[in-house]
Amino acid sequence: MTVTPADGSLVGKVVVVTGAAQGIGMAGALACAAFGADLAVCDRQQEKLEGVAKEVQEMGRRVVTGVFDVRDPDAVASHLEDVRDEFGRVDVLVNNAGGTFVSKFMDVNTRGQQALIDENYSQVLNFIRGCFPLFPESGGSIVNVTSIEAHRAAPGFAIYSSMKAAVLQLTMSLALEFADRGIRVNAIAADAIDTEGDQELGSQVGGLADGYETPLGRYGVPDDMAGPIVFLASDLSRFMTGTTIHVGGGTDAASGWRRDGKGGWRP
Ligand SMILES: NC(=O)c1ccc[n+]([C@@H]2O[C@H](COP(=O)([O-])OP(=O)(O)OC[C@H]3O[C@@H](n4cnc5c(N)ncnc54)[C@H](O)[C@@H]3O)[C@@H](O)[C@H]2O)c1
Repeated sequence: MTVTPADGSLVGKVVVVTGAAQGIGMAGALACAAFGADLAVCDRQQEKLEGVAKEVQEMGRRVVTGVFDVRDPDAVASHLEDVRDEFGRVDVLVNNAGGTFVSKFMDVNTRGQQALIDENYSQVLNFIRGCFPLFPESGGSIVNVTSIEAHRAAPGFAIYSSMKAAVLQLTMSLALEFADRGIRVNAIAADAIDTEGDQELGSQVGGLADGYETPLGRYGVPDDMAGPIVFLASDLSRFMTGTTIHVGGGTDAASGWRRDGKGGWRP
């Protein structure tokens, strides 16, 4: 068995991306289209999503769009019916939609708590459950966008981070459950990617992007996530399942170590 550039191609594949109107989802969707995939994109932001769909079509790819709140299970089911009607299958699901607000745990009321659970966990379950029967006999790939916050403490984001950790656990368990169907399940733990969502969060905690150091010495951009998304979507990652790729300029490895300004590092 050899590896060729064709293994990186997504020609003939159908990729579902959630939260695709901006940021990481948009970058991932456009990259998948550039690598040859047809797309199903959804988001609650209609105008921006239409712009993404137009770019996909301009690349010569087919696209199905869905404007809805991913926390609505009926809307998810209806979107996946549209996907089935148009394409008859799904080869790759990128569970990207998600988000949070900054609040001490004890200040989040039960309504906010449920919203965060639905936003970052329940809808992921619904997309996986809905896509599963659409994966062909030859299998497919599920890519769950998680966060470095699934791997460390996250004061002010406790519910968000614990839901991202739940998705990490789900990724490992479903990798085993779905292995016989040839469906690989992996996660990408993002950190320090400059998106509108990240800027909004940063403004709530006093400017994340301004003072946050990564070992690689710069803040990330959405396209830094696009390559790993395409990699996990494609046959280049055919022997990977149940694992996590960290995309954050090395912050996961650093685990609190910072540059000391004199060419070395300090904890
Ligand atoms: N940017 C980072 O550094 C970073 C770090 C860790 C994890 N993440 C994760 O990456 C993913 C994408 O984040 P981003 O930084 O691109 O954020 P973003 O807010 O810029 O983009 C998220 C997109 O998802 C859509 N969306 C969110 N909730 C939705 C809902 N309930 N219904 C429909 N659409 C919805 C938004 O409208 C938006 O278009 C999220 O799951 C986030 O938790 C990002």
